[in-house]
Amino acid sequence: MNDASHANMPSPAPATWQTLAHAPLPGALLGHEDDVQDGQALMREIFANADSAQQQPFKILLLRSGTAIKAYANRCAHFGVPLAAKQEQLIFQPHTSITCNVHYARYRWSDGVCDRGECSGEALITIPVQVDAQGYIRIADAA
Ligand code: FES
Repeated sequence: MNDASHANMPSPAPATWQTLAHAPLPGALLGHEDDVQDGQALMREIFANADSAQQQPFKILLLRSGTAIKAYANRCAHFGVPLAAKQEQLIFQPHTSITCNVHYARYRWSDGVCDRGECSGEALITIPVQVDAQGYIRIADAA
């Protein structure tokens, strides 16, 4: 299938992070704040439990701007695939935007809304996070 045929297919149905395949539970450890440099978008793969050999990973993006850390599912709203397969292929403008490297939909850093490209008006799926006093980043409990 070539890129032109991808562009003509409909977007996948919206989903919350909890409904995505292989989603861990609230409280799951996503990393440490020292792992993410200021202005960096960091790809991470999380396993729902310790028996990771039997599972597929849950793919996330950690974005840091100053002391603020956000997490999005690494899933483009256009086609439901990761924005990049490898960290070195991830396209982002620090503190500003992150761009899918398949058809180049661009998402705002601040809220994950797509402001240019195939999925304009849609958004990355936000994962609520909390950083504890020791700097560990975890999925926040549901409000
Ligand atoms: S898969 Fe088409 S822009 Fe991401």
